[in-house]
Formats: sequence, structure tokens, C-alpha cells
Amino acid sequence: MRNFEYYNPTKIIFGKDTIGRLDDLVPRDARVLILYGGSSAEKSGTLDEVRRALADRSIREFGGIEANPTYETMMKAVELVRNSEVDFLLAVGGGSVIDGTKFVAAAVNFEGEPWHILEEHGRNIRGALPFGTVLTLPATGSEMNEVAVITNKAKQAKLDLISSFVFPRFSILDPTKTYTLPLRQVANGVVDAFIHIIEQYLTYPANGMVQDRLAEGLLQTLIEIGAQAINSPDDYDVRANLMWVATSALNGLVGAGVPQDWSTHMIGHELTALYGIDHARTLAIILPANLQIHRESKRGKLLQYGERVWGITSGNEEQRIDQAIAHTRSFFENLGLQTRLSDYNLGVDDIERVIAQLEAHGMTQLGENGDVTLEISRQILQASL
Ligand code: NZQ
Ligand code: ZN
Repeated sequence: MRNFEYYNPTKIIFGKDTIGRLDDLVPRDARVLILYGGSSAEKSGTLDEVRRALADRSIREFGGIEANPTYETMMKAVELVRNSEVDFLLAVGGGSVIDGTKFVAAAVNFEGEPWHILEEHGRNIRGALPFGTVLTLPATGSEMNEVAVITNKAKQAKLDLISSFVFPRFSILDPTKTYTLPLRQVANGVVDAFIHIIEQYLTYPANGMVQDRLAEGLLQTLIEIGAQAINSPDDYDVRANLMWVATSALNGLVGAGVPQDWSTHMIGHELTALYGIDHARTLAIILPANLQIHRESKRGKLLQYGERVWGITSGNEEQRIDQAIAHTRSFFENLGLQTRLSDYNLGVDDIERVIAQLEAHGMTQLGENGDVTLEISRQILQASL
């Protein structure tokens, strides 16, 4: 196992009827900006519950944060905060609203053009406004991590920032708030969380026994409850487990002290920036092909994954690896996520567009070994056709 430091200051408040806890969690004298997405939080009544819980405080609101939050939209929120007395942010929504809020928190007092924060992947962040979250969509783990992903529409670039300044102070996870989710978003969430675990686990053996067993347990939980979350949308225990597994998938524990990949995510971000495909859906296209191309360098972990997660024990090594990849692809497809570029009418010509974007964003040495060059990314994309 490698040396590591683990730090996660986000307080989690989990369970039914917990939005009222905001009254204790948000400082009494705070001047709060509530940030939210399109219409879902208003329609579901979640926003009203939040307003009621904070009734004694000065509140402003910023709505209209889109899925895959844009720099253009979030800079309007930055201006609003700069021109007001706001000193505390509250995100109410999914990963997009939370990520957008993290960016605002870091950008408000940033000197210079805030897009540089993304170009430097957050290394230049020196502080951030405090913020909390009310999560409505289990998927990204943003509610308990230090990552945000922002899209610059003008530049067709989707880049991430990582900074310990943007951990949420607290996150409220009420599984009943997910009941109104469209099933497409539930399926996306299952697959996104699954692939977060895979990116931190399916690399090469590193003697991280705790991390491996944790990852395998979380993956098996997703396999067990994935379809149930779609078929029984108001089963509290299923939604509660989905919410906690998605948070646990990307709060730093699975990946502490072990090699991490993330090439599927980086290629996927380019597909979202260019073609607007949902984040999780881009991952479902890239991951099976990525595993295929890396079957040699990932051999040890692919066999372990096949045996421990899918129970594959028969056949020779090549057959077992084939089966592990096939099970992964079927899992995504059975949840309704297609796994080929051609399913989105993308073909050979589009591959060069994606490669050009990867090059422009410096994504030329991806993966746990830094050997996913543009040529390897091209091979992965070709295998995704
Ligand atoms: O905009 P509204 O009307 O609120 O609708 C949203 C949105 O259209 C809807 N929704 C959310 N909660 C709902 C609901 N509809 C009904 N009932 C509810 N309770 O769902 C739609 C998608 O929301 P979004 O926040 O975009 O989804 P998700 O949570 O999957 O977030 C995706 C974003 O997170 C980034 C992705 O790249 C993408 O931009 N990621 C962030 C990560 C992180 N911070 O650690 C890691 C991930 O790998 C990922 O990259
Ligand atoms: Zn993801």
C-alpha cells in the first residue's frame, strides 16, 4: 500500500425528515445564497422546505444551474455574491448544482479570470466561501468530496478542479428526496457511482486489502440494488442504500493509498463537452472498451474483479477476462445505458474531434500508468464504435 493522507471534513446528516436540521447547521447570522437547478427542487417542494428551515435568516436565491454547469452561468452567481452581502452558500440539487456552488465558493475572492481555476485544476485556489448541500440525486459523490467539474461553453471544454477548500461543511442526504427523480437519472447515478469505484480499484494490485474489499462490497451493492432502484422507485431502503453507496464511492476512502485510473472519465468529459451526452452515459460507452484495450496491464485486477464481484471462476484467464468485461457491459445495458458510440450516431470522424480536444486539454498521459497517450485514447474510442 502507498503512503497516504486522508482528510474529509464534511459532516453528513442522513435520513428522512432531516432538512429541518439546516436551522442548526447554517450559522444564525449567515446571509445565505440558495443555489439550485431547473424546476425539480421547486416542484418537489424541497426548496420550500429549505426556505422554511432558514426562515429567520437573510436569504437570496440563484436558480437555473444546468446539468453540466457552465462557467457562463456560474459567473452570474459569482457576480451576484460579489455585489451582495452573501457569506454562506447552500446548494440544493444534484452533482451539477453542488459543483457549480463549489466553483462559486472558490471564484468569489479569486484574483484574476476565474477560468484559470479550471485550467490549473484548482491548484491555485487559496480559499473559499463556506457552503453546505442538500442532495437530491445520488450519483457523483460531490456532496462529500473536494472535486467540481465545470463546462466552458465558449471553449467547449469540461475541466475539473480539486481543492480541499471546497469540501462542503455539511451535506443533508434524505433518500425520500430522490423519489421524484426520472428513472433515467437514477440509472445514470448507479452507473456513475459504479465507475467511480472502478476508476480507483481496477488498476493493478497494490496490496490495498481494505480498499479492495471496500470497493468490491460497494460494487456488489450497486449490482444488487441497481435494478431495484428503478423498478421500485419508492422503496426507502433501496434509495437509502443507493444514496450512501454513491457517496461512499467517491469520498476518498476507496482510492486512498492505491493507484487510480480516471482515463474513462477524462475521455467521457470530452464527449459531454462536444455532444452533450449525459456524464454517466459517456462512461458506459468508454469503460468496456477501455478495459478491453488494457486487458494486459489490468490483468491481475480484471481477474480479481471477475471472481470477487461477478463470481466468475470457470474458464481460462482470457475467457474469464472476456466474461468480466461482458458482465460489466450487460449491467449498464440492462439499466438502459447504451454502450457504443454508434448508439449516439457517432462514428470514425468524431473520434478525431475527441482526440483534438484531449490534446488541447493536456490529456495526453492518462491512466494509472500515465500511458494512455492520444494514440491509446484513439484505440479506446475505436473499440467503442
Ligand atoms: O435541473 P433540475 O430541474 O433540478 O433537474 C435535475 C437535472 O435535470 C434533475 N434532478 C436532480 N434531482 C432531482 C431531479 N429531478 C427530479 N427529482 C430530483 N430529486 O436531474 C438532472 C441531472 O442533474 P445533475 O445534477 O446534472 O446530475 P448529476 O448528479 O449526475 O451530476 C452530473 C454532473 O456532476 C459532474 C458531472 O460531470 C456532471 O457535470 N461530476 C461531478 C463529480 C464530483 N464533483 O466529484 C464527479 C463525477 O464524476 C462527475 O464528473
Ligand atoms: Zn463520474
